[in-house]
Order: sequence, then structure tokens, then C-alpha cells
Amino acid sequence: MNVNSIVVLKLVLFIYWPWLVNSEGEQNRLLVNMTLVQNASALGAYCLDGSLPAYHLHRGFGAGADNWLLQFEGGGWCNDIKSCLDRSKSNHGSTRYMNKWEVFSGILSNNASFNPDFYNWNRVKIRYCDGASFSGDAKFYNGTSMLYFRGQRIWQAIILDLLPKGLGHAKKAMLSGCSAGGLATFLHCDNFTSFLPKNASVKCLSDAGFFLDERDIALNHTMRSFYEDLITLQGVEPNLNQNCTSTLYYPHLCFFPQYALPYIETPFFILNSAYDVYQFHHILVPPSSDPRRHWDHCKLNVTACDASQLNILQGFRNDMLAALRDFYQNSTRDGMYINSCFTHCQSETQETWFAVGSPRIHNKTIAETVGDWYFSRNISKEIDCAYPCDTTCHHMI
Ligand SMILES: *[C@@H]1O[C@H](CO)[C@@H](O)[C@H](O)[C@H]1NC(C)=O
Ligand SMILES: *[C@@H]1O[C@H](CO)[C@@H](O)[C@H](O)[C@H]1NC(C)=O
Ligand SMILES: *[C@@H]1O[C@H](CO)[C@@H](O)[C@H](O)[C@H]1NC(C)=O
Ligand SMILES: *[C@@H]1O[C@H](CO)[C@@H](O)[C@H](O)[C@H]1NC(C)=O
Ligand SMILES: *[C@@H]1O[C@H](CO)[C@@H](O)[C@H](O)[C@H]1NC(C)=O
Ligand SMILES: *[C@@H]1O[C@H](CO)[C@@H](O)[C@H](O)[C@H]1NC(C)=O
Ligand SMILES: *[C@@H]1O[C@H](CO)[C@@H](O)[C@H](O)[C@H]1NC(C)=O
Ligand SMILES: *[C@@H]1O[C@H](CO)[C@@H](O)[C@H](O)[C@H]1NC(C)=O
Ligand SMILES: *[C@@H]1O[C@H](CO)[C@@H](O)[C@H](O)[C@H]1NC(C)=O
Ligand SMILES: *[C@@H]1O[C@H](CO)[C@@H](O)[C@H](O)[C@H]1NC(C)=O
Ligand SMILES: *[C@@H]1O[C@H](CO)[C@@H](O)[C@H](O)[C@H]1NC(C)=O
Ligand SMILES: *[C@@H]1O[C@H](CO)[C@@H](O)[C@H](O)[C@H]1NC(C)=O
Repeated sequence: MNVNSIVVLKLVLFIYWPWLVNSEGEQNRLLVNMTLVQNASALGAYCLDGSLPAYHLHRGFGAGADNWLLQFEGGGWCNDIKSCLDRSKSNHGSTRYMNKWEVFSGILSNNASFNPDFYNWNRVKIRYCDGASFSGDAKFYNGTSMLYFRGQRIWQAIILDLLPKGLGHAKKAMLSGCSAGGLATFLHCDNFTSFLPKNASVKCLSDAGFFLDERDIALNHTMRSFYEDLITLQGVEPNLNQNCTSTLYYPHLCFFPQYALPYIETPFFILNSAYDVYQFHHILVPPSSDPRRHWDHCKLNVTACDASQLNILQGFRNDMLAALRDFYQNSTRDGMYINSCFTHCQSETQETWFAVGSPRIHNKTIAETVGDWYFSRNISKEIDCAYPCDTTCHHMI
């Protein structure tokens, strides 16, 4: 279900928002080739189908030559044999089916006018092919079908491959990611820090990865059960934050960022919309919770939501802000940008990251706020007013 929905979102974007696709700026499109991690097989680090994992690296230069940004690709999850088998035959489960060249835009752009603070860093896009946010370690084999659940090993193999390429003597580093990759950022942030020099400045940024432990409109724990199945199938639990799992009565809950967050020691920035479209469609109003499909119009077009639907969406926003309250109040090293746009992932697309007409809170773009936080230029904790007050949003309709 999850991969499909991402595809649908992209399709909807493409159909209703052609200017967005065109304004990528053909002449400035940076395409970066794929590097397969040959040594991964020694670690048993395979994609679902047994293919080698991969990343795309674009080298930094000038003052950024010793700085590294690693960005996890997103793309939903698979929580049972069937969905994982399907995925293993797709670009989310096998490097065989992936495009070998990736567009680097937004936070991955190499042009200062599109990416003012990170353009000259070494920038890496880590491809996603395990289906469990780079955190599983198990294998399925029943005599005919074989599936590798090796996300944790893929993470390790990629880090070990990049260390001798310069990551090992980084001066500044940031781990980021979007959606399932944004969740991976929470899961691996402190582990990332442990591989870097002690005197390096290391921070983490999650984009659209703050998946909330919220009941759906039928009062079912749909997302919790989905993650339960995923954690069990893919052997995730040993790779969750041990300080969290040893404290919580239900250790599986540590897969949710809100429970793991207090145990993360590295400075962290949370970028998320309070009405994240993926969470709206899969956590708050999954298809199972709306069999009579009252929400179809509202899901596709927020101006079609009625008053009671908007109330429910405001409730979701309130719960997200409540889950972030300690994070907002306690720490000065952390940052956040919680806007009120019907969207999902805002750091990888130029139009939402940094452009004329990008979303703003208090007149600050996402790129400026993240940069101010990373370089300690200013306090960077922005929370938008509730929908529909923000006129700078790029809503997905
Ligand atoms: C990828 O691109 C880099 C720089 O353009 C080049 O050095 C490298 O050989 C390329 N790798 C592959 C596998 O094509
Ligand atoms: C960056 O983008 C600007 C605006 O499109 C362009 O004029 C400039 O040549 C680009 N610089 C680089 C280094 O690509
Ligand atoms: C192995 O699992 C696959 C997928 O669930 C199934 O189609 C196949 O029949 C199974 N084979 C055996 C021998 O159980
Ligand atoms: C791959 O592993 C071998 C043996 O462990 C090691 O000698 C080699 O340097 C590694 N290559 C890369 C690119 O990490
Ligand atoms: C960290 O220490 C090493 C060795 O002393 C030094 O070469 C490097 O420049 C230092 N890095 C930073 C960011 O200070
Ligand atoms: C980081 O993750 C690797 C790979 O799973 C593991 O071997 C290592 O012990 C972890 N390091 C820390 C400090 O947790
Ligand atoms: C959701 O909850 C209702 C009761 O509130 C239950 O009857 C139904 O089976 C649940 N649906 C799913 C998909 O869990
Ligand atoms: C934040 O503060 C609250 C109460 O002020 C405290 O209970 C909580 O443990 C703190 N969280 C962190 C991560 O320090
Ligand atoms: C995690 O546990 C270790 C060992 O008990 C402790 O030293 C560390 O401070 C804990 N970290 C957090 C953030 O609670
Ligand atoms: C969204 O819904 C509103 C209200 O129902 C309608 O006026 C508008 O045309 C719709 N927009 C699109 C793009 O479908
Ligand atoms: C908002 O910021 C832009 C530059 O990013 C500036 O030109 C504009 O004057 C600012 N608007 C307000 C109302 O401060
Ligand atoms: C820091 O942020 C505040 C509030 O957004 C703003 O008024 C101030 O100008 C900023 N300072 C700097 C140095 O950017």
C-alpha cells in the first residue's frame, strides 16, 4: 500500500503541478551516477532481492571539501512476505530496477543560489532497498522464495565504504533523509556520530520522518500494528535505541520517533508538516478506517474537506505538537520547522527547500532555518499557525 501511495502522490503532483516539474531548471539539473557497494557482500548486506546496495556521491569542493551530507532515500515500508516480495521486484527493493542517475536538487544541489549552506559539501544519496528504514536484520527462505531483510547491514556497509573516501576525517557532517529515510535518520543518528572524528560537528535532520503514534479515525492503532508486523518480520528490535527499548514497556514503540527522541544525543532538526499528507492518508485516515470513503475528496484536495474533517486534522496537528513539546522546550542545540502545508518531504525539491515562493514561517525558508541551526547562527524553532493561515504553502492537490 505504501509504495503505491507515494507513486500516486508523485503522479498527482505531476498532473496538477506541471510548473513544479518544469521549473527544476533543465539547464541546472545535476545528475549523479550510482556507485554499487561491492564490499557489501562480505557483510551480507543485500537489498531485498539479493542485489548489492548503492549510493550516489557528488564530491564537495572549496570550503566544503571536508564536510559530508548523507541523505537516506525514502519510499514506505513492507511488513509481510507478499508486500516484500513485490517490493523486491521494484526500484524500492532492488538496485537492479533503480535509475542509475539521480537528480540532486534542494538540499543536494551543488549551486549556492539553490542550496546556500550545503552546496559545496560532499553529498551522498543513499538508495533505499530494504523496506524497513535501514534497520532490519533477518532473512526469509522457504525453499522457493528468498528475501534479505538486511537494512542494518546496508547502513553499516555504506558507512564503511564512505569512511576511506573522506567521511572518516570529516570536519562537519549531517545525516538526513526523507519519509522512511527521515525515520532512518532518527534510528541511526547516534550511530552515525560514533563513526566520525570526536572533534567533528555532527548533526541530524529528519524530513517528513516524524511518524506519529496516533489512532486512526476508527480508533484503531493501524500504524502501530503495521510497524509491529514490520519489526517482527524484518528483525528490527535489536537495532532500536537500547536506552529506549530498555525503558519502554513495549520496546517496539521505539520505532516511533517520539519515543526514541529523548534518547538521541546528537543535535537534531525535525522538519515536518503538521498535516503531512502521508500520515493523513495512512495513519489518521487509512482506507480501512473509512470503508464508505467519506474522505476521498478531502484527501485529494484540502479545500474539499468539511468542518468536521478539518477538526480532525487540527486534532492531529495538536497531537503532533504535543509529542514535540519537550523537544521544543528543553534543548537549545536542536531545531524544528513544523509548517502547516499539505505536503510530504520538503528538503529534496527545490521549490520547497529554497526558491522564490518557497514555504516560509516568519518569513524564513526551510533552507535558511536549517542552515541557521546547523551553523548556530540563530535559534531555529519554527512552528506555523494552523491551517489555513499560511499562504506560502505548496499544498498537494
Ligand atoms: C561516476 O562519476 C564519477 C565522476 O563523474 C566518475 O569518476 C566515476 O567513474 C563514475 N562512476 C561510474 C560507475 O560510472
Ligand atoms: C547557479 O544557478 C544560477 C541561477 O540559475 C546560474 O546562473 C549559475 O550559473 C549556477 N551556478 C553554477 C555553479 O552552476
Ligand atoms: C514460499 O513463499 C512464497 C511467498 O509467500 C509462496 O508463494 C511459496 O508457495 C512458498 N513456497 C513454499 C515451498 O512454501
Ligand atoms: C573491501 O574489503 C576489503 C577486505 O576487507 C578491503 O581490503 C578493501 O579495502 C575494501 N574496499 C573498500 C572499497 O572498502
Ligand atoms: C580534529 O582533529 C584532527 C587531529 O588532531 C585534526 O586534523 C582536524 O583538523 C580536527 N578537526 C576539526 C574539525 O577541528
Ligand atoms: C553502529 O552500528 C553498527 C552496525 O550495526 C554496529 O556494529 C555498531 O556497534 C554501532 N555502534 C554504536 C556505537 O552503536
Ligand atoms: C477497527 O476498529 C473497529 C472497532 O472500532 C473494528 O471493528 C475493526 O475491525 C477495526 N479495523 C481494522 C482494520 O483493524
Ligand atoms: C524535558 O523536560 C521535561 C519536563 O520539563 C522532562 O520530563 C523531560 O525528561 C525532558 N526531556 C529531555 C529529553 O530532556
Ligand atoms: C544511554 O545509556 C547509556 C548507558 O546506560 C548512558 O551512558 C547514556 O547516557 C544513555 N543516553 C541517554 C541519552 O539516555
Ligand atoms: C478542490 O475543491 C474545491 C472545493 O470543492 C473546488 O472548488 C476545487 O476546484 C478543487 N480543486 C481541484 C484542483 O480539484
Ligand atoms: C522576507 O524576506 C525577504 C528576503 O528573503 C525580504 O526581501 C522581505 O522584505 C521579507 N519580508 C518581510 C515582510 O520581512
Ligand atoms: C534571529 O531570528 C530572529 C527571529 O526570527 C530575527 O529577528 C533575527 O534577526 C535573527 N538574527 C539573525 C542574526 O539572523
